[in-house]
Amino acid sequence: MTIPIVAHTGIVAADAYLAAGYERVVGMSSRFAAAITGGLMRIQNEMGVEGHVAEIGAFEGRFFIALAHCLKDGEKALGMDIFEWPNPEVEDRFEANCAKHGVPDDKRITWKVNSNETTPEALLAKLGGGKVRLFHIDGEHSRKALAQDLELATQVIDDAGLIVLDDMLHPGYPTLMVTVQAYLETHPEMAVLCIIDRETIVAATKFVLCRADWFKRYETVMLETFKPFIWPLGADFEPHWCLVLSLDTRLAAIT
Ligand SMILES: C[S@@+](CC[C@H](N)C(=O)[O-])C[C@H]1O[C@@H](n2cnc3c(N)ncnc32)[C@H](O)[C@@H]1O
Repeated sequence: MTIPIVAHTGIVAADAYLAAGYERVVGMSSRFAAAITGGLMRIQNEMGVEGHVAEIGAFEGRFFIALAHCLKDGEKALGMDIFEWPNPEVEDRFEANCAKHGVPDDKRITWKVNSNETTPEALLAKLGGGKVRLFHIDGEHSRKALAQDLELATQVIDDAGLIVLDDMLHPGYPTLMVTVQAYLETHPEMAVLCIIDRETIVAATKFVLCRADWFKRYETVMLETFKPFIWPLGADFEPHWCLVLSLDTRLAAIT
């Protein structure tokens, strides 16, 4: 029998939430993706990278709470959502889940907003100073909306900041990849840092983007930190390569 290896962030509060709270909060992101993304925030903490967290599509708070637990004192988590789906009470459930799972009021900012109708200035004003070190985009899954969300995120992240994109390569949203490719072509200063493989069709794949000049610094640490989850062949973005992190690191049998 093989014992499954469980991914951790390495941050006590975040790992306690992943172990006992994550699956109880209604949501879609995978526990594996939350552990890897939280692990990236721990790497940022150790590198001295500072800043806030922002999420488009906070929903009931499942992924948001994990990220908030990875922040240092004085940093904030900004939860953005239109908070209308599946009903307006979703905002109350978001607030209640944050409180229940230990994200204090002074650490989180709830923002009922359409991400496509706001500006980088308004977003930064909400945070009251400082840039974003990790931005999770999980809002409207159309090409146009993703393109706008990507531009918004790019303008508010720190030089060492990370942008995490949900539902990449999802069978239900195959054209989102076209937007990502177009974005990478118009933003040569950005690169895909890694792909976080899906757990299920609901808990789908995420891409993590960073500035190209930060790629090697992150990758060097990630090779050690995430060793058990590195799929040996990596991902080919022609000509750029990046890490693929997965719970299943097997290769195809060829003999
Ligand atoms: C799939 S859910 C997010 C799940 C959540 N991030 C998680 O990991 O559990 C998508 C959310 O995006 C929100 N949304 C869709 N379009 C949006 C927009 N233009 N601006 C802000 N939020 C939006 C929806 O209201 C919904 O709550």
